[in-house]
Amino acid sequence: MMRASGILSLLFVASALGGVIEDFEYLSVEDMCGLLPQDTSLLRPSTCDNWVRCPNSLEAAVEQGACASGLYYDKDLGRCILASSAKCPYKGLGATEQAKNYCANETDGSFVVDPSSSDCRGYILCKNGKQIRANCPNELIFQPTSRSCVYETQYHCPKSSTKRSDPACRSLPNNTRLADPVHCDQYYECVSDLLHIRSCPALSAYDAALGYCVNVSEVACYETAALPEPENTFCLDEATGSARVGYFADDLSCAHYYICNKPKAGKHDTEPRHLSCPLGQYFDFEKLSCRDRLNVRCQLDRCVGTNLTYVNVAGDCQSYGRCSGGATVSTGLCPSGYYFDERNQGCSLTNYHYIACSA
Ligand SMILES: *[C@@H]1O[C@H](CO)[C@@H](O)[C@H](O)[C@H]1NC(C)=O
Ligand SMILES: *[C@@H]1O[C@H](CO)[C@@H](O)[C@H](O)[C@H]1NC(C)=O
Ligand SMILES: *[C@@H]1O[C@H](CO)[C@@H](O)[C@H](O)[C@H]1NC(C)=O
Ligand SMILES: *[C@@H]1O[C@H](CO)[C@@H](O)[C@H](O)[C@H]1NC(C)=O
Repeated sequence: MMRASGILSLLFVASALGGVIEDFEYLSVEDMCGLLPQDTSLLRPSTCDNWVRCPNSLEAAVEQGACASGLYYDKDLGRCILASSAKCPYKGLGATEQAKNYCANETDGSFVVDPSSSDCRGYILCKNGKQIRANCPNELIFQPTSRSCVYETQYHCPKSSTKRSDPACRSLPNNTRLADPVHCDQYYECVSDLLHIRSCPALSAYDAALGYCVNVSEVACYETAALPEPENTFCLDEATGSARVGYFADDLSCAHYYICNKPKAGKHDTEPRHLSCPLGQYFDFEKLSCRDRLNVRCQLDRCVGTNLTYVNVAGDCQSYGRCSGGATVSTGLCPSGYYFDERNQGCSLTNYHYIACSA
């Protein structure tokens, strides 16, 4: 049952990303460096003695080199050392494991388990003889016999006795960061050859070239990574930093109001309902009601939420505003002894003392 939904959604991800992080080792050196902070040095994947140094500025180019005879490149020391005392992550993997094509005996469009996935989330899609690596959606893992993504309760993921290193980390020095190609507020970090996903603190995002989180206003995201939609903080009381719950006037329009629900998991409601009063009515915070706009004090533009041409002005019952396109375009003053009456659209000798214009 899960097959259709799990795989459909992942096909999309696989084709959209091509598994950039999973296939890090197969990228061009320029594309690898695009994911890494400037001036990062790494072991060239699938070799023991070649290194790559990423550009240290936008103008510079990628530099590549090879260790002198008898030496291997140590990614953590960042230099070549005697091969006998070096540990090469690609040795033993050999050509077989590395270049093994798990799709060799598969029909086009089939799914096979990804043996390099230690948490069972990974699978391989065989497409036109090529292997496209992808992961099952959150909370799902790949079931090798049904060849589909299933819930963790439906399949027991065998724990590998030795923690496998993540392919993306094999060639990178410890604690190297990689940009997340999708989310600019996240990044990856290789710690002891395991790939960890990290989130930037609130209002900051990951700068791909600098390799750390900076203020959202000055971040240079990885080219395909997007910033999250700004969070709706209406239900966050800025003075106290805590959530507020209930009905609240919209601070941009007297004709609208919000309903803030109870916080979830300690977090204020980030999707409050935004509602409108009927035409001619304003939200009254004290009565928690929509009512005749003349009975509501409104310090905002009173041309909002009405189709009248002339409106009363807050705090001055002799003045009026002229509306056009839902905004006040000019103001005027009734002759001495006259008061503006929005209901009759004119100046009147009677002062109705509307709350809307009273001081
Ligand atoms: C494909 O089939 C051949 C011949 O049966 C076998 O030697 C090879 O290991 C198979 N490849 C994979 C990836 O299973
Ligand atoms: C990698 O760095 C972390 C600290 O950030 C350290 O705890 C760990 O032991 C290091 N791993 C290796 C293999 O050096
Ligand atoms: C981020 O930048 C904005 C706009 O330049 C500024 O108002 C804000 O204080 C900055 N935030 C931090 C945490 O530096
Ligand atoms: C304003 O809206 C009301 C209710 O929809 C309508 O009856 C009235 O004719 C409108 N007035 C103008 C000037 O458009």
